[in-house]
Amino acid sequence: MQISGSLFPFTLFLAFILISGASSAHNKNDFLECLNLQFQKSNSESDSIYTPQNASYSSVLQSSIQNLRSASNSRQRPLAIITPEHESQIQAAIYCSKKYGIQLNVRSGGHDYEGLSYTSHTPFCIVDMRNLRSISIDTEKNTAWVQTGATLGELYYTIAEKSKTLAFTAGVCPTVGVGGHFSGGGYGMMSRKHGFAADHIIDAKLIDANGQIHDRESMGEDLFWAIRGGGGTSFGIVVSFKVKLIVIPATVTVFNVTRTLDQNATQIVYRWQYVADKIDENLLIRLFLRSINSSNGKRTIGASFTSLYLGPVDDLLPIMQEKFPELGLVKEDCTEMPWIESILFFAGYQSESLDVLLDRTPVLATYFKGKSDYVKQPIPVNGLKGIWKFLNEEDANRAEFEFSPYGGIIDDISESEIPFPHRSGNIFMIHYVVSWSEKENADSQRHINWIRRLYSFMARYVSKSPREAYFNYRDLDIGMNKIEGNTSYKQASVWGFKYFKNNFRRLVHIKNKVDPTNFFRNEQSIPPVSLW
Ligand code: FDA
Repeated sequence: MQISGSLFPFTLFLAFILISGASSAHNKNDFLECLNLQFQKSNSESDSIYTPQNASYSSVLQSSIQNLRSASNSRQRPLAIITPEHESQIQAAIYCSKKYGIQLNVRSGGHDYEGLSYTSHTPFCIVDMRNLRSISIDTEKNTAWVQTGATLGELYYTIAEKSKTLAFTAGVCPTVGVGGHFSGGGYGMMSRKHGFAADHIIDAKLIDANGQIHDRESMGEDLFWAIRGGGGTSFGIVVSFKVKLIVIPATVTVFNVTRTLDQNATQIVYRWQYVADKIDENLLIRLFLRSINSSNGKRTIGASFTSLYLGPVDDLLPIMQEKFPELGLVKEDCTEMPWIESILFFAGYQSESLDVLLDRTPVLATYFKGKSDYVKQPIPVNGLKGIWKFLNEEDANRAEFEFSPYGGIIDDISESEIPFPHRSGNIFMIHYVVSWSEKENADSQRHINWIRRLYSFMARYVSKSPREAYFNYRDLDIGMNKIEGNTSYKQASVWGFKYFKNNFRRLVHIKNKVDPTNFFRNEQSIPPVSLW
């Protein structure tokens, strides 16, 4: 009796595993059958569904992956990748995922820092928006409808084709997807003058967890508020955004000037912190810090001041003379060009034609880990010297700090206007990144430890309570939802307040209203909890 007493729970456990294993295999097959059936019903070609049996499954999966680290950590491969050409196919994917308990991930540009658009710990499928990428520009009203599968490069290219004096304010890398980028904010070289991509969204088309299609009017102002910076995935699948375009001068000026420690870099960087958020809002001076070889072969720090001025060089120079003479900028450092060419300049293209903006292949696909911070008081010289030490560590060969200045119009927009909350009071945002090659990947933990040590070191110089972070530089180190089971508000609050500050509570409330069963979820999705 004693023996059977101890065996009983084990037998039950085994039976449970066998049944759940069988039923999950069953679910997967049923899910795929369901998809095929639904596609047939809507007269859709099932060649928009890729399963591991398809020869092109792997290449479709890998095509837009930017962070190879996330791909190599993935425990599961998607059961199917669906590349819809119209909305009914998205509705079919939602219907079948819901019916068979399969997680649904949405991918637009695939640039998520932690790969959450194409990885999961539970059985899942991907709705990849690549074929939904049409862009229509209205030059009378200065607006554009852009489908979320478009890249920033495609958007910029299409605007420039129509007009020399219209533009859009969003990120620097042309292969970033509109879907993820607009959903989390979207900072770029015109943000001091024109704000973030999400500030300019005036309508949207979204498919909710019940497969219903909404525009701004039918989704209501709460949900429309949430999708402008509250993060992709939590609230539905955004098919397209309508944005207000911005008017720019026909000529802008760019420069990229590097100073090393021998050229007084420490003092110039220190001084930059007093200038960057206050200078004329037509000027954005972004700062990149790296460890480089100096002309005498020794390691030094290279501080690169990479800038866009919305106007001619002759207007820029007096501003620099008056406000930031320490940099010693001269006319020969500057180049005038149309705005669209500045996109190539900042993306690091040399003399390519504008067509390169239409190339969706990730330029820098690599293994990397990134983090972010907000700075409200200038970092003292000793702090900068501490940063130089980190950058000069041998392991940090491919490490970089980006200091992105705030101020300008960013200060004038209220923290609760949209969910993106990092406004007045921030001098700049820091983006830390370390990358490594496939050959070095066996040693990936050393690089990750380096960036985590650096993050601890920086705690004394950056925002506190909460230690703010930029959602679009997603970082699972700052907290995540339970991978299995119910998402708890308490657990999500750990990362939620860092990304969204007090807007997190309103996001939770809206999620509870629009997706109470938590259909749209991942490791950092908003939990559905009733808070009031
Ligand atoms: P991806 O497709 O991976 O999606 C990201 C998240 O949004 C995922 O959770 C996904 O499920 C969700 N999502 C995607 N499409 C959706 C849709 N249609 N509906 C609902 N949810 C959707 N940022 C910045 O502000 N300024 C910059 O200059 C840059 N530059 C930059 C360069 C490089 C090389 C990288 C890798 C990243 C940046 N970023 C950036 C960060 C970038 O804004 C961020 O990673 C975006 O989320 C990427 O959006 P994608 O659509 O490409 O990603």
